[in-house]
Amino acid sequence: MDTHYIEEGLVKIEVPDFEKVSAKAPVFYNPVMELNRDISVSIINQYRRDIDHDIKIFDAFGGTGIRGARYSKEIPGVEEVTVGDVNPCAVKIAQDNMKLNGLDNVTVEKNDANIMLQSNKGLFDVVDIDPFGTPSMFLQSTAANIRPGGLICISATDTSALCGTYHDPCFRKYGAQPQKTEYCHENGIRILIASIARNLAVNQKYMEVLFSHSTEHYMRVYGIVKRGSKKTNESLDNIGFIAHCPNCLHREYSYGYAPHLPECCPECGEKYDIAGPLWLGSIWDKDFIKRTMDSLVELKLNKKDEVLKLLGQCYDEAEGPVSFYDIHKICKKLKISSPKINDVMDEIANRGYFISRTHFKLTGMRTDMPLDELKQLIKDIKEEKLGSEN
Ligand SMILES: C[S@@+](CC[C@H](N)C(=O)[O-])C[C@H]1O[C@@H](n2cnc3c(N)ncnc32)[C@H](O)[C@@H]1O
Repeated sequence: MDTHYIEEGLVKIEVPDFEKVSAKAPVFYNPVMELNRDISVSIINQYRRDIDHDIKIFDAFGGTGIRGARYSKEIPGVEEVTVGDVNPCAVKIAQDNMKLNGLDNVTVEKNDANIMLQSNKGLFDVVDIDPFGTPSMFLQSTAANIRPGGLICISATDTSALCGTYHDPCFRKYGAQPQKTEYCHENGIRILIASIARNLAVNQKYMEVLFSHSTEHYMRVYGIVKRGSKKTNESLDNIGFIAHCPNCLHREYSYGYAPHLPECCPECGEKYDIAGPLWLGSIWDKDFIKRTMDSLVELKLNKKDEVLKLLGQCYDEAEGPVSFYDIHKICKKLKISSPKINDVMDEIANRGYFISRTHFKLTGMRTDMPLDELKQLIKDIKEEKLGSEN
């Protein structure tokens, strides 16, 4: 295998030569995921600060070992990192990379993630799941493994299933109906979180979501896991369904596994599209995000500006309602061209409603303003009855 060296964060890593990023490469390495790794370093660093003791991390899908190496080198208070991978070439290159960086607190093991997780229950404070495609077949062992108070970091790259391009794979992997709407990435994350919550619940565990995001081709969720049957039951109350009207864009949220779901939109009579079960609870912890932003000063990250931007966007939308509106979609329905989004947002704020952008979509607005009022407001701005014309 021909290789070359790259530098990322504070580590130097040997990676295979490649023409294009592919799961078929002898060892997988994707330079585009540097932002993902920078975010992971930032979140785990803040988690470590919050719990205020040294931590042990399991990077279950190590590849070149870049994640495990960075966690060891860049996060103060990391006592031990275990890196696993089933691919012997990955294990070899990861072991070499630990030597290259002088990291004697990192061990690399050739093993299946499920076996490692099931046979080391309660050993790790942080479990990082970064597989090819779906994490679904690793969720049960992750749930069994993670110790109470531990942090789970879970990636999914099967966004076409989670976001509703294909329905059958989402049924198979997550037991959920996705929905191809303008907010399908948010629904996708909520389907993923509901699936994690159900797997945790089997082990009488539940998760407080600290941070989640959908970026490029992947989604990632970070949550602190706790234990207790009563709190687990209460946590499952956050699972429900969204009924979306494809005609007028009205939505309804129903909590529970078997809620009574109206078949048609009460506003226009169109048949609803139903998505779920999905997580209708919070998908960000605003205070945690603020602390993470503040502690970024102590980290050396190449993508720090992008990390800060994403954290800032999620901070702004953290306490908003479930789902958002796309100004272009509304204007298309109204058969008008779109006014400036900032003019619309200013007026929503003037009227005292929650309003933020969303990191999920450039033209998205997260607000609790009733849809009818929002549509009228957009028309009024367009007709210069309010604000400025673009
Ligand atoms: C997406 S890559 C990981 C990339 C790496 N985390 C990074 O940031 O560069 C997935 C890795 O998981 C490994 N893998 C696939 N199935 C596995 C399994 N069942 N258990 C452990 N590792 C597995 C693959 O060999 C591959 O190296």
